[in-house]
Amino acid sequence: RSTVSPNVKWEDTDVSLAAREERNGHKAQIFWFTGLSGSGKSTIAKALEKRLFAEGRQVVMLDGDNIRHGLNGDLGFSEADRQENIRRVGHAAKLFYDAGFIVLCTFISPRKAMRDEVRRLFPEGRFREVHVKVDLEEAKRRDPKGLYKKAEAGEINDFTGIHQPYEVNHDAEVFLDTQKVSVEQAVTILREMI
Ligand code: PPS
Repeated sequence: RSTVSPNVKWEDTDVSLAAREERNGHKAQIFWFTGLSGSGKSTIAKALEKRLFAEGRQVVMLDGDNIRHGLNGDLGFSEADRQENIRRVGHAAKLFYDAGFIVLCTFISPRKAMRDEVRRLFPEGRFREVHVKVDLEEAKRRDPKGLYKKAEAGEINDFTGIHQPYEVNHDAEVFLDTQKVSVEQAVTILREMI
């Protein structure tokens, strides 16, 4: 697949990223939360977003469930659709990054290769992979949306952890084991990295 449409030229903006960062008082950056459904990605990111917003930072959250309404509403959960989901989200995150934001992305993004593809869109040090870890058994026990139950009953196909794999990246910048670390502790750890 080509990454550029034919006959187009990149249009630079006259407002630099450096000027935006100077005004914001912080660097643009990505926190990429990855992990099983029910691991706590969105819960932690929402708490971090609230905290950063209260501190006056430019922060935005892109969440799998939400982006799959509208923008990526045409995609399902096959390997190819997930790949395309993450490809598009990576570029959406880049738009916010270029606008100077701290971007909190919460996507299962089960394959290391798809996360690495997004990572390559950003300069070194501006993209941090946050592996939100939970045992599959615990995720099934939490089952906040009842999806594991449906997947095990055969009512949902292609469910991560049941029918499809999740690949851990042992080189992720942050590991948050949500069976050991509270939401408040996770927020503190991540906030100190900004
Ligand atoms: S992916 O793999 O990154 O493309 O998935 P993502 O965009 O993050 O969407 C995950 C949310 O979609 C719901 N859902 C499913 N998840 C996994 N597998 C299947 N088959 C599935 N069907 C629906 C589910 O609510 C996921 O949200 P989280 O917050 O992870 O529980």
